[in-house]
Amino acid sequence: MRILVTGGAGFIGSNFIRNLLANESECTVVNLDKLTYAGNLENLADVEKDPRYHFVKGSICDVELVDKLLGTKFDALVNFAAESHVDRSIQNATAFVETNVLGTQTLLEACRRHRVPRMVQVSTDEVYGSIGPTGRFTEESPLAPNSPYAASKAAADLLAGAYFRTYGLPVIITRSSNNYGPYQFPEKVIPLFITNALADEPLPLYGDGLHVRDWLHVQDHCQALAVILREGRPGETYNIAGNCERANIDVARLILRALGKPESLIAHVTDRLGHDRRYALDTGKLERELGWRPRIVFEVGLQETVRWYESHEAWWRRVKDGEYREYYHKTYKDLSSFSPQFH
Ligand code: NAD
Ligand code: TYD
Repeated sequence: MRILVTGGAGFIGSNFIRNLLANESECTVVNLDKLTYAGNLENLADVEKDPRYHFVKGSICDVELVDKLLGTKFDALVNFAAESHVDRSIQNATAFVETNVLGTQTLLEACRRHRVPRMVQVSTDEVYGSIGPTGRFTEESPLAPNSPYAASKAAADLLAGAYFRTYGLPVIITRSSNNYGPYQFPEKVIPLFITNALADEPLPLYGDGLHVRDWLHVQDHCQALAVILREGRPGETYNIAGNCERANIDVARLILRALGKPESLIAHVTDRLGHDRRYALDTGKLERELGWRPRIVFEVGLQETVRWYESHEAWWRRVKDGEYREYYHKTYKDLSSFSPQFH
């Protein structure tokens, strides 16, 4: 199987590529990534010499490049490429609309032109908006995004649905809850809190800290995506979640306890604008149809994640200092003129 992964240098995409290469010996992966601030080739340093793996630097918004690439025949495309941080979208939504909406439409169009047999659009639970203290969103729940990030992802989902209905493009949408695990950029709450705590710096907790997220380990997410890629039904949407709701303040306390740091490091700060109170997903469809279930218990996965950041201090310090960007230039300087050899 020859798979194009877009956004594979980020958190979830890099975990997905590593798993794919480890589990599917017959598989070839091309990773198309723009290497924004969130794209880090160090995340894939252990597979970069694998002959089944190829990296192409470029944007999913580049119509010519995407068309040329998809013209080289792929069995599937999995789209992770996105601007992914809510706080950044509140500062400036432009890049979110460009990549998440126009970029996804560029991929859909190229998949249609080149008759790619399968596309997976990796989306988020945030497209449903915030839910009250009880209940869970199903795949049939209406889209009601609140942040510019969530709105741009919802727009991409609607375009994917339109390409399925209008052209019969075999696209599948996945909507996952909040992920955590190794290689997550330390702007997201869990790695931010872990790395701040390791440096004895305050953990900035928004508002009252009682906002609830449903945590999913990135390995469980990647496993769900692999099953959906193989057996999911085109035109369908699948919710993916850990069924593991925690309030932010409890997550902060767990992290501090795991590191033996005092709770006095928690600093209540001004709330995020339009902050969604609670996300919760019903994952019954994925369980019934494809037999997937999350395996990693949050408290165990979080402990392991804390240990991973503890033992990868050089990685997160380079990320926080912005020095990780030099890795690309050192490692890929031969490709800087861009002549991708993708077979
Ligand atoms: P991330 O920010 O860590 O990585 C995004 C990657 O996309 C980076 O490597 C970046 O360089 C690349 N990228 C950005 N713009 C691009 C463009 N125009 N062309 C090509 N590459 C581009 O994000 P993540 O947390 O790994 O999330 C991956 C996907 O999963 C996103 O679509 C996100 O919406 C979705 N998602 C994330 C979570 C989560 O908790 N992290 C939860 C649900 C869904
Ligand atoms: P985040 O990791 O940004 O993911 P999302 O907004 O996509 O759910 O935030 C997770 C939760 O943590 C969210 O309720 C906002 C909160 N949060 C903080 O309290 N402090 C922070 O510094 C950040 C980044 C997030």
